[in-house]
Parts: sequence; C-alpha cells; structure tokens
Amino acid sequence: MSAATAEPKHPRFLLHDGKLVDYADARLHVLSSTLKYGVGVFEGFRAYWSADAGQLYGFRLDAHFRRLVDSMRVVEIDGPTDIGDLQEQMTGLIRANDLRTDLHMRAQVFVDSADGKPHDRGPATVFMAAIPMGNYFGATGLDAQISSWARLSDRSMPPRIKSIANYQNGRLAQLEATRHGYNAALLMTTDGHVSEGPGYNLFIVRHGRLATPPVTDSILEGVTRDSVLQLARDAGLEVDVRSIDRTELYSAEEAFVCGSAAEVNHLRSVDRMQIGDGEAGPVTRELQVRFRQAVLGQTTHPWTTPVYP
Ligand SMILES: Cc1ncc(COP(=O)(O)O)c(C=O)c1O
Repeated sequence: MSAATAEPKHPRFLLHDGKLVDYADARLHVLSSTLKYGVGVFEGFRAYWSADAGQLYGFRLDAHFRRLVDSMRVVEIDGPTDIGDLQEQMTGLIRANDLRTDLHMRAQVFVDSADGKPHDRGPATVFMAAIPMGNYFGATGLDAQISSWARLSDRSMPPRIKSIANYQNGRLAQLEATRHGYNAALLMTTDGHVSEGPGYNLFIVRHGRLATPPVTDSILEGVTRDSVLQLARDAGLEVDVRSIDRTELYSAEEAFVCGSAAEVNHLRSVDRMQIGDGEAGPVTRELQVRFRQAVLGQTTHPWTTPVYP
C-alpha cells in the first residue's frame, strides 16, 4: 500500500472541552502547568465491538469517569464533575468517528494556564480520544521482572488514582524490565509486599485460592481488578484480598495481571521462575472467558453501555 493510500493511524476527531477537533488541532500551551509540572489526571478504558450484536459496548464507563472525578479531587484540579455528561461526550466522539472495532479510550484533564505554576487548580481543559487497539502487550503470556524501583507510596504520591505524574514510576520499572529482556514488570511496596505493574493489577492462585493485593498496598484501584473480583465470586471461587509476598508469587500455581489496556493476561514467569507449567491455568482461563463475556454485554452486571442506537 502506498503512503498516499495508507489507512490513517488515528481517527479523524478528538474532543477538546466537549467540541470535536481535528486530530492535528488538539494542542496545549507549552507553558501549561501540565507540561511544566505534570499537573493532570486521566482515564484509560475500552469499548468492544460485538459482530453478533452489531454493537459497540463501552465497558464500565461510569466507574472510569467516577475515578476521573476522584483523581481531580485528590490532586485538586477544578474540572468537570458530571459523570453522565462525560460519558455522553465519549460515546458521542466515537459515533462522530463512526468507529466499529475494539477501542481504547482516554479522557485527560489538564491544567492549561499560559504561565503555569505547580499549585494551579485550573483552568482545566479536557481532551478525549478513542483509538482502535488490540492486544496491549502484543503477547499472550508474560515474563515479568520484580523491579528494583519501589511502587510509589501514599505518603508521597497518590497511587490509587490516575495522576499523570505517577506514571514516571511505572515507566522506570518497564524500561528496566525491557532492558533486562522481560516484557512486563511488577513493583513492590516500600515495605516489601508485591503491589502491581506499570499499568495492571495482579492476582495469584495459591493452594487453590485466588488472592490480590489490597488497595492499601499502593495499587491503582483498578476497575478491571474490581470486575475480576466480582466475576470470581460469581464463579464460586474463594478470593482473598490481602498482602502478597514475593516468594508467594514464585510458588504460585497461577498468576495473571489485569487492566483496561492489559485485559486478563497470564504470567508465564517471574524473575525467570516459571509459574505452573507456563500456560494459563484453569482459574485464569475461567476468568478470561467470563471477562470476555462481560465486556461483550453477556453478563448480569450492569457494566456495558451500547454506543450506537
Ligand atoms: C498503574 C496502574 N495499575 C492498574 C491499572 C489497571 O486499572 P484499570 O483496570 O482500571 O484499567 C492501570 C490502568 O490503567 C494502571 O495504570
């Protein structure tokens, strides 16, 4: 295919403060507080195309926009708080681009002041994007490294919300892991418990029980984690929300990570120690199937929003 006829890599429109703008025209001032000091929050979430239903389903839009509002509150940005309106804006953007495929969506709130200071609370500006996305890792089965970087602590930064400044922490861990030949990273808390990865929460299966770190172990309060917990209980699985030690991970029967972009992807190994037989185990597979059904609207949980009338 020649460059002239190549498919565009991004949809035509983004949303800037509720208005459709061409991709190239979505800009911030170079002196904004966001660029100078990392003042901003965001959400990342997905919509899934069901060929059977001829419908695109947004997954847990309300939970994501609620977390966006929580994020703004914690880092003190005076942005929009009407969750219903934010949802409408995102689904409207998708319809304007006529997207009918699996998507990753972003909603970002920036502080866009012409002479930005670190403590500016506004003016807030909101960008939204919806972009086709398949497998985030480009791999099924991950080899993770326990990072030498500790997961940021609630004593210095707010790990439970999506402040863009937090993402340096996971970035360093991912770069270290990549440099050492791994395709995923896991960070530990400053007091030595396994926390989470750069963009995903962690579950293990040990002695037949599912376990995941609590929200007080410096994790992002993941929407996918919450969905997996509910799906596991639906499946009658025993679930513990408790701190996890590194050596439990090494001796787990199964382990997987989950997140909106990451979906549910099993760990083949951690620090080159194989988990189980290296394949997705029975609990992971059961939850993957239930998760897939859920995102396609085949669930009793009120989690999906049809995008098209
Ligand atoms: C640091 C971090 N942890 C966990 C997750 C998973 O959260 P969710 O399932 O809400 O996407 C993300 C996702 O963006 C993340 O950035």
